[in-house]
Amino acid sequence: MDSEPSTDVVASLLDRLPTGRLRLVVIGQGYVGLSLAAAAAVEGLDVHGIDIDAARVGALSRGESVVPGVDDGVFAMATDSGRLSFGTDFARVADADVVVICVPTPITDHRPDLGAVEGASRLVSQMLRPGQLVILESTTYPGTTEQVVQPLLEASGLRAGDDFLLAFSPERIDPGNTKYGLRNTPRVVGGIDARATAAAGAFYRLLVDDVTELSSARSAELAKLLENTFRMVNIALVNELARQCHDQGIDVWEVIRAAATKPFGFMPFQPGPGVGGHCIPLDPTYLAWQSHRDTGRRFRLVELAQDINAEMPDYVCRRIVDALGERGVSVRDASVLALGVTYKPNVGDLRESAAVETLAQLARRGVKVSFHDPFVERLESHGLSLERSELSADVLAQADAVALLTPHDVYDLQWLQGGAKLVFDARNALGVRGDERVVTL
Ligand SMILES: NC(=O)c1ccc[n+]([C@@H]2O[C@H](COP(=O)([O-])OP(=O)(O)OC[C@H]3O[C@@H](n4cnc5c(N)ncnc54)[C@H](O)[C@@H]3O)[C@@H](O)[C@H]2O)c1
Repeated sequence: MDSEPSTDVVASLLDRLPTGRLRLVVIGQGYVGLSLAAAAAVEGLDVHGIDIDAARVGALSRGESVVPGVDDGVFAMATDSGRLSFGTDFARVADADVVVICVPTPITDHRPDLGAVEGASRLVSQMLRPGQLVILESTTYPGTTEQVVQPLLEASGLRAGDDFLLAFSPERIDPGNTKYGLRNTPRVVGGIDARATAAAGAFYRLLVDDVTELSSARSAELAKLLENTFRMVNIALVNELARQCHDQGIDVWEVIRAAATKPFGFMPFQPGPGVGGHCIPLDPTYLAWQSHRDTGRRFRLVELAQDINAEMPDYVCRRIVDALGERGVSVRDASVLALGVTYKPNVGDLRESAAVETLAQLARRGVKVSFHDPFVERLESHGLSLERSELSADVLAQADAVALLTPHDVYDLQWLQGGAKLVFDARNALGVRGDERVVTL
């Protein structure tokens, strides 16, 4: 252990941080952790990525970019730099100036599951030494950094604030977004005290152009939940509006476009088969769960919005069945080809995909379902067991309906419209009106 007094080693870290001459350890080499590790290595930091998944570590060590969504170019540059290594052993934490924890925080049995955060914190604690900065990036409820991570790290005998620094910074990375990446997506950071905030701010300024320092870790934790809850609630609003508009014979897409011409006080969201992915459906649950645990109050808006979004696959399914019925095709005889089954366009992620749920519900009603998705070869969930269909003019023409659920950019929309008997355009990708073979949500 370092013989210098802790105050000196912490001060020395604060001096060194802006120089970028740092050793970084990133715990969890998933989408978030590997993206950070690779970007930091490209920026000149000496980076070691730790993961409990030995197969993943092995592949990454061989230079294989095995984590979907991580920028292959950045990963290649990082491995070529010689500054990025991987391992399963937490011993390397002892060498680090900065340790960032990016492990999963799933919802298990309707509750936040901090098992991975706790497990990683315990192992970090065993290697912790004075003068280090530890940052939690995993999405979680306010208070986790101080109430869960800090005591586990202090089991080392070192004191947060005196011997080491501790902060939270939420990851905002948007899978598939080609405009906003790590560098140009602004960051917020909040430490458990002012020095930790300053240190975390200095660290992220090496990698991100715009960093905002907050007064606490709790504010940073809650800011992330607000961002994703805001999105989830607004999607629920337009989903409910879409149903209302359909009943009234009003074009919801035109209404949203019209409202969006207002240059202030409005932000457009688009309806669809529901919300999906790893963040938007799950993160608001942290908010609702904590509200109930700590105050006894239900966070009603979150619960209501979750209910509305959860109804959308059933609604889309009914609209498809109705459209087929109006054309004289009964459910039992119908075949539907779904195009795009991932949770959003241009990514390969199936987690919480509302498109898969929609397809499963069609199948449960007796519809003969098939799917095509450039990112997915097989669907083996929700009771479905399907091999990807080919996408030829014949296949298109044979389906009673084509359900355009997740409109990936690679789809030739004009070709689809021209070749299908009926297109159910769940996200208004075609933007077509007046063609009786196209039905929009
Ligand atoms: N994916 C996103 O778009 C996104 C965006 C913002 C925030 N987040 C949040 O970031 C966190 C990580 O998400 P992700 O998408 O990178 O997850 P992921 O599932 O892609 O990867 C997590 C990695 O952590 C490893 N791991 C699990 N437990 C571990 C442990 N105890 N020690 C070391 N490694 C461990 C797993 O093997 C896996 O490789 C989550 O809290 C998530 O909510 C994700």
